[in-house]
Amino acid sequence: MSNKATIRCPSNIAFIKYWGARDLARAIPVNPSISMTLRSCFSRSTVEWLDEDGEHEIRWRAAEGGLETAPPAFADRVRRHLDFLREWSGQGGRFRVATENSFPSAAGLASSASGFSALTLAVLGALDRQVSPAEQSALARLSGSGSASRSVMGGYVEWPAEGEGEGGSECHAHQLATAEHWDLRNVIAVVERGAKKTSSLDGHRRAETSPYFCTRQACLPERLEAVRRAIEERDFLRLGEVVEAEAIDLHCVAMTSTPAIFYWRPATLLVLEAVREMREDGVAAYSTMDAGANVHVICTPESEIEVAARLSRLDLDLSLIHDGVGNGPVVEPEHLF
Ligand code: DP6
Repeated sequence: MSNKATIRCPSNIAFIKYWGARDLARAIPVNPSISMTLRSCFSRSTVEWLDEDGEHEIRWRAAEGGLETAPPAFADRVRRHLDFLREWSGQGGRFRVATENSFPSAAGLASSASGFSALTLAVLGALDRQVSPAEQSALARLSGSGSASRSVMGGYVEWPAEGEGEGGSECHAHQLATAEHWDLRNVIAVVERGAKKTSSLDGHRRAETSPYFCTRQACLPERLEAVRRAIEERDFLRLGEVVEAEAIDLHCVAMTSTPAIFYWRPATLLVLEAVREMREDGVAAYSTMDAGANVHVICTPESEIEVAARLSRLDLDLSLIHDGVGNGPVVEPEHLF
């Protein structure tokens, strides 16, 4: 048996967002969320299991290209998840880990979902443990990055707020539709590089202090149903209207939390405005944002080139990433070490 495995796992963009937790330590959300798994933004993680005592070794790909010891804040989060998975497996030992992202780590793009789903699946591979997709999702969720629970599956994915069973098997995501079902694109306007100042974890903690928290929650059953139906029927306009309204609401909740969280930068607003103008000219495009300043422009294959061209013409210091719906995790033959 090989004790080493390498997994490539994509990030995802939420159409209906996870924002607020019933149990933050176990990433049990207040509301269900729905996302599209991406293909160009991904993390790759190699994990080796060693049958010996000692500390885990955690490295990441530095900007200069080599693998180096990961910085303490990131390494501590990874270490906690490795400890948890080791206890879950009952196998003892220690792990050697290396991880890298296809997109710049400090670009203000969510790398936790792809990073922790890749790590979880690579640990399972290194331990030669076969578990169901549901359990993979629940184990990824227990990293603390709830959105990682959605990245272990391709296509369109729903993560309900509740689940059956106990321990690791409760509260896991499931696939709503495959990537082949509907080819949607995502042109990401990167307007801010560097890590966000307030983590999603702090955002979840503060969410319920916003006077708009309950207002958004009240809208969600209808929104969730609209997104499920839009995906089923490939109804881009219905999807886009809901997705953009949902993203704005998430940021309203963040901005009115105590203490307030402002993720947007001036360029965020200019991109939002540009996307509205595109729609007036008949370009099929809608905006959404995670807990950050960068704007994901969801569009059809036919509108992708026009979306990118118009964003490039803005007088802004931005870079574009062309992404789209993808098939989910892949086992890689080559290891990082
Ligand atoms: C706004 O607790 O999963 O992206 O681990 O930092 O990715 P990270 O955050 P997590 O919260 C995700 C918040 C969100 C919405 C979403 O992806 O559902």
